[in-house]
Amino acid sequence: MFWKFKKQKDNSVSFSIDEIMKGQIPNHIAIIMDGNGRWAKKRALPRTAGHHEGMKVVKRVTKLANKLGVHTLTVYAFSTENWKRPREEVNYLLRLPEEFMGTFLPELIEENVQVRIMGNKDAIPAHTLSAVEKAVSETKQNTGLILNFALNYGGRAEIIRAVNQIVIDQNAGKLSAEINDEIFSGYLMSSSLEDPDLLIRTSGEIRLSNFMLWQLAYTEFWFTDVLWPDFREEHLLEAIHAFQKRGRRYGGI
Ligand code: IPE
Ligand code: IPE
Ligand code: MG
Repeated sequence: MFWKFKKQKDNSVSFSIDEIMKGQIPNHIAIIMDGNGRWAKKRALPRTAGHHEGMKVVKRVTKLANKLGVHTLTVYAFSTENWKRPREEVNYLLRLPEEFMGTFLPELIEENVQVRIMGNKDAIPAHTLSAVEKAVSETKQNTGLILNFALNYGGRAEIIRAVNQIVIDQNAGKLSAEINDEIFSGYLMSSSLEDPDLLIRTSGEIRLSNFMLWQLAYTEFWFTDVLWPDFREEHLLEAIHAFQKRGRRYGGI
């Protein structure tokens, strides 16, 4: 199967999915799914319509990532700062995971995907949390792609939580005074996951917005102007293609 697309007006690129699969597939892809509101505005629709369309894109991207053999796909679904939005939009965003699981869980189970959640669960509405936790438990035995939802997640809150827990464990004599990268990582919400290899952000914004601050230290970044509801399989392939051409040195030569 061929995906052809133009990178610039005069510079078109094409490659096959097979070609990409012969190269190195990123082990962990993290995505800041941005631009739902602008997508809706362009169509004179309510912002929630953009979020609903965006949810469908998560399904498509999950399926392709799983086919490609990506180990983990982390998607930023709701940040600790998104509470600043109007209440109706917050409510809608926090209901979406329930709809996602309601319509997609059987397929996730069939496709061998494992669902995970990362974030401060305390403030997530009970109905949403129970829908996600049901998905986590029903996909626990699966061995394919890990689909990790960052929900009510913030990088700083995650780091502060880790520090507080480390102090508690040190005071209880469960942890020595000296901590290192590995011990610290073990206290993060992503403790069971490798750091992302590739970060994708849509909608033309070039910032992290408090996403995985510790884990992205040596991640390759890929930004696109495409709005999240318009993101398609070819864009994921384009990002992976770009990733495959990067030289990762981690400070070496
Ligand atoms: C991303 O789209 C979804 C979330 C942040 C939850 P936005 O809602 O941020 O869309 P824009 O950035 O306003 O276009
Ligand atoms: C980041 O997008 C959060 C998510 C995608 C969930 P935002 O739209 O909230 O980020 P800012 O406000 O533009 O930085
Ligand atoms: Mg945004």
